[in-house]
Amino acid sequence: MKLAVIGTGYVGLVSGVCFAQKGNEVICVDLEQHKIDMLNRAESPIYEPGIEELIALNLEAGRLEFTSDLADAVRRSDIVILAVGTPSLANGEANLSYIEQAAADVGKAMNGYKIIMTKSTVPVGTNEKIKDVLARHTSLSFDIVSAPEFLREGSAINDTLHPDRIIIGLDNTGLRETMVTLHQVFTDKIYVTDIRSAEMIKYASNAFLATKISFINEIANICEKVGADVTCVADGMGMDKRIGSSFLQAGIGYGGSCFPKDTNALIQIAGNVDYEFKLLKSVVEVNTDQRFMIVSKLRESLGQLNGVSIGIWGLAFKPNTDDIREAPALEIVETLIQAGAIVKLYDPIAMDKFKERVDHPNIMWCSSPQQAAEGSDAVCLLTDWEEFKKVDLVQLASILHKPVLIDGRNVFAEEQIQGSGLEYYSVGRPR
Ligand code: UGA
Repeated sequence: MKLAVIGTGYVGLVSGVCFAQKGNEVICVDLEQHKIDMLNRAESPIYEPGIEELIALNLEAGRLEFTSDLADAVRRSDIVILAVGTPSLANGEANLSYIEQAAADVGKAMNGYKIIMTKSTVPVGTNEKIKDVLARHTSLSFDIVSAPEFLREGSAINDTLHPDRIIIGLDNTGLRETMVTLHQVFTDKIYVTDIRSAEMIKYASNAFLATKISFINEIANICEKVGADVTCVADGMGMDKRIGSSFLQAGIGYGGSCFPKDTNALIQIAGNVDYEFKLLKSVVEVNTDQRFMIVSKLRESLGQLNGVSIGIWGLAFKPNTDDIREAPALEIVETLIQAGAIVKLYDPIAMDKFKERVDHPNIMWCSSPQQAAEGSDAVCLLTDWEEFKKVDLVQLASILHKPVLIDGRNVFAEEQIQGSGLEYYSVGRPR
C-alpha cells in the first residue's frame, strides 16, 4: 500500500520505517527541513537503537522517502497517517493544534478518496474533530481510522514489528479488511472497535501502567518501614497471571513524554465530563513524591546537602534513550543544587540534551561513572543503564569520599553489595 506519514517523531518515524520494512511504499513528511535532510542521509533525529540501519535499508530498497512536501506525499498515497505531537497544555490537556493543522493541510492536498489514520495519542472525540477539519478543507470523500500506537522508546522497532496487539477504531466497517491486511504483517492479534473506544484504549492503557508503577512504589515505601523486600513482593505478585510481572519495578517513578502527559490528559478528559478520576490523581501525586525519596535518603545518610558533592548516574528517563522529557533527574538535580550541593553528572548518551535544559555553576559534567564518583560524598543511580550494572563496587567504594550509593532503580543485588564497603540504600528493600 502507499502510505504518507505526517510527523517524524518517535511514533511517525518508527511506524513509517516499519511499514516500509514490511513492503509498503512509505513517504514520511516533516515540516522541519533539517530533519528531512538528516533522514535522507539515513541519520535519525531521534536516538533509537537499530533505526538508522532500517532507514538505510529501506531508502536503498526504494520503499521509503522523506520530504517536507506534505501535499505531494498526500496526493501519492492511499492512506495518510497522522503522527504529529500532542504535547501538554499548561492545564494538562492535550494540545491539538498540530494535529488539527495537519488535518487541514491533508484536506487541502487531497486529490481523491483517502483513509486518514490517526496514530497520535488524542483525547476521546478528537478523530471526529479531525473529520470536521478535513471536511472543511475538501469536498472529496475520506474515512477516519484511529490506530493508537503502543511502542516504547528504546525498544520502539521491536515493539512495532512484534506488538502485543493492534487496536483499530473505525466507523465504516467496510474498512475492516483493508486495515487488517495492512496490520496483520505485524501480528494477527488485531482488535477492531469503534473510534471512541480505540482512543480511550490508548489513554486507559498508559494510565493503568502508570498506576502499576505508583502502586509498587507505595508498596516499596511501606516495605521499607515493615522490613519486607519489594523485589520479592513484586516477583511473588507477578506470578499471578491476573496481575502479571511487568511494570512492577519500584524506583524513583515514571518519566518520559507519555505517562506524565497522558495521565494528566486523562484526568482532564474525565474532568471535562464532570468526573473526578480520584485514583489517577493519586497515581500522579505518588509519582511526584517518589522522585524526592532519593533526596530524603541523601539527607538521611549525609546529614546535610549544603556543600556536599553528589555523583549522578543517569539522566535519561529510562535506559536506551537520550530523552530527558519529564525525567526524574531534572527535578532531583535541581533540588540538590538548590540545597547547595555540587552535582557531578554522567549519562552514556543524554548529556547533551540535559545541558540544553539545565545549566548551573554547581554542575560538573563527567565523562564516566567513575569520574562522577571520584571524591564525591555519594553516588545516586537514577537510570538503570547496563553500564552501571557492570561497575566494580569495591573500586567504587575506594574512590568515593564517603562510600554512599543510593540506588534509585534497585539495580544491585544484595550479594554484590556485601563486602563492597558501600553504605547502600535502595527502594523498598532492606539495606
Ligand atoms: C510508554 C508505554 O510503555 C508505551 O506502551 C506507550 O506506547 C508509550 O508510553 C507512549 O504512549 O508513547 P515509554 O514512555 O517509552 O512507553 O516508556 P516505558 O518503558 O513505558 O517507561 C516509562 C517510565 O516508567 C520510565 O521512566 C521507566 O523508568 C518507568 N518504569 C517502567 C518504572 O519506574 N517501573 C516499571 O516497572 C516500568
